[in-house]
Amino acid sequence: MSKTLKVLFLAAEADPFVKVGGLGDVAGSLPRALRALSPELTGEVLLDVRLVLPFHPVIRSNITSLHSLPPFTLRRNGEEILVEVFETILEEMPVYFIGGGPIDASGSVYSSNSETDGEKYTFFSLAALGLAKQLNWYPDVVHANDWHTALTAYGLLVQHWQEGQPRPASLITVHNLPFLGPDVHNVLEKYDIPLAQTDLPDWARLKPLPLGLWSADAIVAVSPTYADEMLSKDYGSGLQDFLKTRRENLTGILNGLDVNSFDPTTDKDIAAQFTAESLDQRKANKTALATQVGLVADQAVPLFGVVSRMDPQKGIDLVLDGLRRIVDTPWQAVVLGTGDPKLEESARKLQKDFSERVRIAAKYDSRLARQIYAGADIFLMPSRYEPCGLSQMIAMRYGCVPVVRAVGGLHDTVTEGETGFVFIKPQVKDFVTAVQRALDTYRNKEAWQAMQKNGMRQDFSWTKSASKYFELYQRLISTRT
Ligand code: GLC
Repeated sequence: MSKTLKVLFLAAEADPFVKVGGLGDVAGSLPRALRALSPELTGEVLLDVRLVLPFHPVIRSNITSLHSLPPFTLRRNGEEILVEVFETILEEMPVYFIGGGPIDASGSVYSSNSETDGEKYTFFSLAALGLAKQLNWYPDVVHANDWHTALTAYGLLVQHWQEGQPRPASLITVHNLPFLGPDVHNVLEKYDIPLAQTDLPDWARLKPLPLGLWSADAIVAVSPTYADEMLSKDYGSGLQDFLKTRRENLTGILNGLDVNSFDPTTDKDIAAQFTAESLDQRKANKTALATQVGLVADQAVPLFGVVSRMDPQKGIDLVLDGLRRIVDTPWQAVVLGTGDPKLEESARKLQKDFSERVRIAAKYDSRLARQIYAGADIFLMPSRYEPCGLSQMIAMRYGCVPVVRAVGGLHDTVTEGETGFVFIKPQVKDFVTAVQRALDTYRNKEAWQAMQKNGMRQDFSWTKSASKYFELYQRLISTRT
């Protein structure tokens, strides 16, 4: 008889329902990748992974075929607050949406008001635990992601769990450590959740992510290097000493990529599909991209591509300053991304000063993004920190050779001289030197194509990561008390 392993997977966003950033990609892919693991890989264990999301008002109109489940209540300030539950099925996976209270009152996935988000995600995290009881479906593992859902691990530890049911093991995946969440002690108080004595630093013990990390049975960083970096002062967001005490429970598992969606052999958004064996077809994509953004198409001129949030995290300033310094050789650049108004402004300034070389598209445009991956020659991603990073993987899959900083997931996915170009210090000068190495190699067509092929042949599929998560789930359950 096969065994079933039940996992409740929680996130603030998940593709295809709602996606703001990389978290949405992961929460959209990983649960389904886990369910799709073959019986040979799982030793016949059946993975019943179910996803729970807040029923953000912005996604209500996106979902068809939804049915409501019986509501239940949460006690807050002595009042009963109604928790509404809806269900849909995504490729055989049950997906639950939780609405009511502060979720209905919210607008977008994340608000600029931290108090609003604190209320909303505390409610969501506690309601998700209530949902398991309501469904009479008791998970073996509760898998939370980032600060928004971290309080589920805390709730599991400090709240009463169902009599006769083993308490689920808890796991938190950290996609972005500096986002610890707002102080929520007032909110917890309203729900009668006690503030535990912890070994967290004082300033951290009122925030969702630290409380979650303190409670969780396992902490997963989205790349092995980020798991190490989190223990250092530079990347630990003040939690490094605490995290060192959890070293045994901390691992890194590299994210995968939705290789079916990001596939240059079938991608309908690009001018010409191609494979590692038909790289010459890329030329049509380069011409189409240049023409579309209003640059003069020229196969001899190397074309840089950037697809990124305009955020200091992403080192966009290094790109903007660095490109200015490369004047003795021709190049062109297409930069796609929005965010920080100051960075957008300096990007526009670069376009003004280099009007024949640079085009900036200050927007979110997933189609243009694919056209950049498929048409640009060199992908620039000099992040200050990068827990995992997806764009460099997509770029390599599309034969666009990346220049990256050796940090987090970039360090784990790009190899100097083989699949890309890597520099260490977050300084313009070092970035420029790496770009020069890329430009030198670009002139040697054979060497360049060899690198493109190396990148295109890497396995970025989810199966590897999903099996690592599966092994971890098994380990957690076997040691569950
Ligand atoms: C965050 C990180 C990014 C990572 C993504 C998914 O957006 O900044 O590096 O790839 O989460 O884990």
